[in-house]
Amino acid sequence: MTLNKTIQDALNEHMNQEFYASYLYLSMSAYCEEINLPGFAHWMRTQSQEEYSHAMKMFGFIVDQKGRVILHPIDQPSIEFHSPLDLMQQTLEHERHVTRLINRLYELAVRENDYPTQVPLQWFITEQVEEEKVASNIVEQLKMIGERGDALLLLDRELAKRGSEMANGSMGLISEPSL
Ligand code: FEO
Repeated sequence: MTLNKTIQDALNEHMNQEFYASYLYLSMSAYCEEINLPGFAHWMRTQSQEEYSHAMKMFGFIVDQKGRVILHPIDQPSIEFHSPLDLMQQTLEHERHVTRLINRLYELAVRENDYPTQVPLQWFITEQVEEEKVASNIVEQLKMIGERGDALLLLDRELAKRGSEMANGSMGLISEPSL
């Protein structure tokens, strides 16, 4: 079975969105460096690498299906971040947006009776549950922290511990960081 054009276009478009996410989190990482939160910066840089790996999963799948990879230009990411809380709220919103895109892609694969494409998309659906959960946890922790700089520095240290989970795709925040 080879990819039909509708699915191929949609997968190429989604690959571009994952590259954009990689760019966006790199932009966020730079902001964290500017405000002297190296743990947040590290976490965002790792997240950027993970998004790159998501794009490459799409790349590999298109190639394996004998489709045509078409690399579109990557949009310029925002530099409008105003606080760690604003940053993580934007992260959560972005992940919710990606979830909607994945769901639409899955609906398309079902409509087109493209069974092989549904399989990797199920991995992405599971991944998005994790991505939203972790981003939401950090948002809630930042709300609890409020203006307490000492607590923010403790969270920064926790985020600095994030390893590279590119192999399993997890966002990798310990679920209950000690604050
Ligand atoms: Fe590739 Fe954060 O979703």
